[in-house]
Amino acid sequence: GASRYEAEAATLSAGGTIDSNHAGFSGTGFANGANAVGSSVEWQVTGPASTLTFGYANGTAAARPVDITVDGVVVATGVPFPATGAWTTWRTVVRSLVLSAGPHTVRLTATTADGPANLDYLDVSP
Ligand code: GCU
Repeated sequence: GASRYEAEAATLSAGGTIDSNHAGFSGTGFANGANAVGSSVEWQVTGPASTLTFGYANGTAAARPVDITVDGVVVATGVPFPATGAWTTWRTVVRSLVLSAGPHTVRLTATTADGPANLDYLDVSP
C-alpha cells in the first residue's frame, strides 16, 4: 500500500504556513505556500515508488502549476493543479514517477505568482 507523507511534515519556502482553516484535509493541516513564483513545498520520502499522489485544494478559478524535482533533478514541468471549486474541496493529482529504494527529496515549486495550491499530503505507492 501507499505511504502517506502529510504536508505538516513538509518543508516550506519563506512565507509558507501550515494551516487548518479549510476543512476536509488529511492529518492536522495543509501547506499554504506563499503566493509567489518559486514558492516550494518539499517532502522527504522513502522509495521504492512508481506513483506519486498529491492531495490538494485550489479554490480559485485558475490552475496552479508547479515544477517537480526529485533529489534536485527536474522530472516534470508545469504540472497543473486544477481548480477544485472551493478551498474545502480536496482532490488529487497523480503522477507516474519511479523512485528507487531509499530516501528521496520530492519538491514542488510554483511557476506562477499565485504560488502552489494548498497541499494536503503526498502518497508514495510502490
Ligand atoms: C486564500 C485561502 C488560502 C489560500 C490562498 C491562496 O487566502 O484562504 O488557504 O492558500 O487563498 O490563494 O493561495
